[in-house]
Amino acid sequence: MTAVGIDAIEVWTGKLKLDLAETFAPQKGDDPEKYTKGLGLFASSFPDAYEDIVTMGANAAHRLMERKGLEPDDVGRIDVATESAFDNSKPVSTYVAGCLEQVYEGDFHHANKGERKFACIAGTQSLDDAVNWILAGRNRGRGALVIATDTALYARGDAGEATQGAGAVAMYITEDPSVVELSTEQGYGSADETDFLKPNQQFPSVDGKRSVQVYLSRMREALADFESVAGATHPDDYEFIPFHTPFPGMVRKAAVLGYRHMIRNTDVEEELADEIGRQPRRENFDDDAAFEDAIREHMDDLKETDAYREWYADTIEPTLDVSREVGNWYTGSVHVARMSALMHAAGSDTDLAGKKLLLGSYGSGAQAEIHEETVQPGYEDAVEAANIDEQIAARYDLSWSEYEQVHDRHNHEKRVELEPFTQPDGEFVFDGWGPMNERKYTYAE
Ligand code: CAA
Repeated sequence: MTAVGIDAIEVWTGKLKLDLAETFAPQKGDDPEKYTKGLGLFASSFPDAYEDIVTMGANAAHRLMERKGLEPDDVGRIDVATESAFDNSKPVSTYVAGCLEQVYEGDFHHANKGERKFACIAGTQSLDDAVNWILAGRNRGRGALVIATDTALYARGDAGEATQGAGAVAMYITEDPSVVELSTEQGYGSADETDFLKPNQQFPSVDGKRSVQVYLSRMREALADFESVAGATHPDDYEFIPFHTPFPGMVRKAAVLGYRHMIRNTDVEEELADEIGRQPRRENFDDDAAFEDAIREHMDDLKETDAYREWYADTIEPTLDVSREVGNWYTGSVHVARMSALMHAAGSDTDLAGKKLLLGSYGSGAQAEIHEETVQPGYEDAVEAANIDEQIAARYDLSWSEYEQVHDRHNHEKRVELEPFTQPDGEFVFDGWGPMNERKYTYAE
C-alpha cells in the first residue's frame, strides 16, 4: 500500500508569554509549584495585538511552503482545525489562502478548503481526512495543507486560566512522506459528554475535574479499540507516545493508565510481580468499588517502580518539552507533542528512522483516537529546520497588567485597541475590519 503521512511540519507560537511561576501564581496567591510541578507548565503563549488564529496559521503554512519550495499549485486541499473560529460560515482556511495569495504568484482556487470541529481532536481528524483523500487517489498528485490553530483562552478567573496558550501547527501531507507515515489502523473512544463546551461563546464552559476523567475514559476505550484491529500493544513497541497535552500533568495521568494496560499479561507484569504484585483482576473482587480502590493503590505503586519511571522518562517526558513552555494549543497540542519528541530525538544520538510512535489524540465532547506512526529516514532535516526553540525564547514576557490588556484585546466581545509589544517581521498581520465585519490581513515586510 502507498505510504502516506506528514512530509513537513512547522510550528508558530504567539509572540507573547505569561510566566506562570513569576507572574501568574503571585497574583492568584498560589504556590508556583502548583503550576510548575502540579500542572507541569512553566508558561503560556499569547497572541500579540496583530496576531490571531489566521495570522498564526498562515505564518506557519508560509514558512512550511518556503522551506519545501512549494507553490499554490502543489496544494490541493487546505483544512483548518480550530475551536477558536470567529465565523460560523466562512472557514478560516479561506482567510489563510487569502493571506498566502498575497505572497505567491499563483492562487488556491483549485484547492478544496474546509474547517474541522471536534474540540482538540479536530487537528488529527483533518490529518486523517488528508491521508484518506490521498489514499483514495483523489489528490491528482497534490499534497494537503493541514493547519491546527487556536487561541486557547479561558474566562478570567476560570480554573483553566493557567492552561491557556496560542499557536499554530502546519503540516503538509503527501505520499512517500519525509517525517512520519500514518497507520491505517485506528482506534476510537467516543461518547456524548459535556465536560468542556462553547455553546456559541468564545470562552469555554468547563467541568475541569470531570474533563480529566472523561479524557482518561475515552483514551482507554480508544486504546482497546486500536488493539482490536492492530493487535496487543507493548511499551517496548514505541519510541515515543505523544498525547494530547492540555497540560503535562494530564499526560502523567494518561501515561500510567496506558502503561498498566499495555503491560497486562506480559513479561513486564511478571517481572514487576515480586515488587508490587500482579494487577488486580475484576473477577477477584466482590464489587466495582473494591476493585477500583485496589487498582488505584496498584497504580500508585506502579508509578514508583524503576521500570515505569525509566519508560516515562524515555517515552513520554520528551513529548512535553515544548508544551511546558507554551501551554495548551487545543487542536495543535498533540502535534506539538509529536514535534517535541522528534526534536528531542534529532538532538540526541537516537536513530529513529523506522521506529514507531503511538499518537493519543483527544477532543472534549468527547472523543479519543489512537493510531501508529512510523518515523521516516531524513525526518531530522524536517525538524531541525523548525525554529520553535528560538520562537519560544524570543517571546515578550508580559507583566500582569499587560496580560490583562492582552486578554481583553482578544476577547471577541470587546474591541480593545492595544499597542503591540513586538514588531512583525516578514509575516501576516491582522489589519482591521472590513465593511462586512470581516477581518483583514496584510503581509508586513
Ligand atoms: N505543589 C505541587 N503540586 C501541586 C501543588 C503544589 N503546591 N498544588 C497543587 N498541586 C497539584 C494538585 O495535586 C494537582 O495534581 P493531581 O491532579 O495530580 O493531584 C495539580 O497540581 C492541579 O491542582 P488542582 O487540581 O487543585 O488544580 P485546579 O483545580 O485549579 O485546576 C484543572 C486543574 C481543573 C484541570 C484546570 O486546570 C482546568 O479546568 N483546566 C482546563 C480543562 C482541562 O484542561 N482539562 C483536561 C482534560 S480535557 C482536554 O484535554 C481538552 C482540552 O484541551 C481542554
